[in-house]
Amino acid sequence: MLQRPRRNRRTSAIRDLARETHLRVEQFIYPLFVRDGIGAPESIVSMPGIMRWCEEDVYREIESCMALGIQSFVLFPAVSDDRKDKTASYGLQSDNFYLRIIRGIKQRFPEVCIMSDVAMDPYSSDGHDGLVMDGEIINDATLEILGAMAVAQADAGVDIIGPSDMMDGRVAHIRGALDGAGFNNTSIMSYTAKYASAFYGPFRDALDSAPKFGDKKTYQMDPSNRREALREAYLDQAEGADFLMVKPALSYLDIISDLSAHADVPIAAYNVSGEYSMVKAAVERGWMDHDRVMLEILTSIRRAGADITLTYFAKDAARLLQGK
Ligand code: PBG
Repeated sequence: MLQRPRRNRRTSAIRDLARETHLRVEQFIYPLFVRDGIGAPESIVSMPGIMRWCEEDVYREIESCMALGIQSFVLFPAVSDDRKDKTASYGLQSDNFYLRIIRGIKQRFPEVCIMSDVAMDPYSSDGHDGLVMDGEIINDATLEILGAMAVAQADAGVDIIGPSDMMDGRVAHIRGALDGAGFNNTSIMSYTAKYASAFYGPFRDALDSAPKFGDKKTYQMDPSNRREALREAYLDQAEGADFLMVKPALSYLDIISDLSAHADVPIAAYNVSGEYSMVKAAVERGWMDHDRVMLEILTSIRRAGADITLTYFAKDAARLLQGK
């Protein structure tokens, strides 16, 4: 036998030499849920280990993540029902708690990278990412709201604006709004290939943001489609996106691979709430080894072509990678 592939797997040191994919803590973006008011962190039943933090606690949480080498965060607001309305107006108020917390973080930790979420759903009484009229999600009128939301976030110091709404033309519109307001240095990470997925369930529990009627299939992508992701990618890149994201990650590794082969901006993948929760649930039952499954998942996402991974596992993984 001339070829014996097992020789490259013979010892741990040789396997280290032959390894193609490496996880790095700096490549993680850790999602954090924030809420208004004071009081102890609230746990989210369907996401073990993940909390809704109030202002003071989120500063402490960020500090403890920084000690583990995590330097990038994406923030999502849990907004109370009485502040939600048809036009998501709370999301545009410059003194809302989400923007206040972002200002506080950038003041205390100017070196961290903060990514925001741009979409109407956390603030919308309809629970949809866009404006609802007569039971339909209206694209172009939504763009105005998203642009204003992005400018308010940039003004609060956000480094990377993250449009997660899947409206057509939103990257160009947001880029124009940011530049028009003097924020030409604020980046955009577009949720480029965001699928209408059942894996977002636990996230919608965390924010109480499930749609009040229907589903998101007229704007989020059909899980059956692959080439359509490239169409979205070409558009977002042409419209000025600095990063493209695929979401969810695990059932969409082919899409991550396609985008990393065809786009020339960095590719991110969102290892979403349901992907996290199903591992935690199985581990609670003693059915799988937490750390090994987690690392295998994170490695596979990277192997598929993701430069960046948004993951609720960031802290667990960082601890493991840093040996802490
Ligand atoms: C909303 C948004 C969602 C997620 C991120 N931004 C949910 C949705 O589209 O319904 C899901 C993230 C996760 O499941 O972890 N625009």
